[in-house]
Amino acid sequence: MISLVVLISGSGSNLRALLEATNRDDFPAKIVAVGADNDARGFEHARAFGIPTFVMAPGDFSTRDEWGGALLEQVRAAGADLVVCAGFMRILPAGFVQGLTPNLINMHPALLPLFPGAHAVRDALAAGATETGATVHVVDEGVDTGPVIRQVSLAIDPGETEAQLHERIKVLERALIVDTVSDIAHNLIDLKELARS
Ligand code: GAR
Repeated sequence: MISLVVLISGSGSNLRALLEATNRDDFPAKIVAVGADNDARGFEHARAFGIPTFVMAPGDFSTRDEWGGALLEQVRAAGADLVVCAGFMRILPAGFVQGLTPNLINMHPALLPLFPGAHAVRDALAAGATETGATVHVVDEGVDTGPVIRQVSLAIDPGETEAQLHERIKVLERALIVDTVSDIAHNLIDLKELARS
């Protein structure tokens, strides 16, 4: 059984999927804390499952590095084996990444390396892509550049809006993150090896 800290910024539907998975007897991970950079709406899911939450807002620190140091201390104090960024919309300071690598993973709503950044779904539509998807990857010091762990793809429907497409991607993401965490916990995915690649 591995211990997860999940970091969110918004609605936390992927967090919810992980929380629901932890109710299954065969799921090999538990969530020990949920953190965010603001009083995120998704905290309601953590509270519903009795999981402690914490807010670590960059604005409360004089530098990004100080913020990253405090965030690192917090996830270590929670006892995380693996930190999952599930809609955490901040670029993580290098010290935070170095302190956790390779046990720090991120979900992204595109087929990386295509469409990195904060507007992946919008960017895919603007580029006229006919296919997109979701990626789970090991976090490195770049923006959405770390080694890919798993991806799923879907066809973009003609005339689809950003919100409609993002919602369809999120359905895939929820299954993807649950399966990926399970496979990491079962040592079917070797994060060390991936991080070396
Ligand atoms: C997800 O689609 C996730 O991939 C994306 O934010 C959404 C969070 O949804 N993350 C990024 O765009 C990171 N660059 P949720 O709060 O409902 O889980």
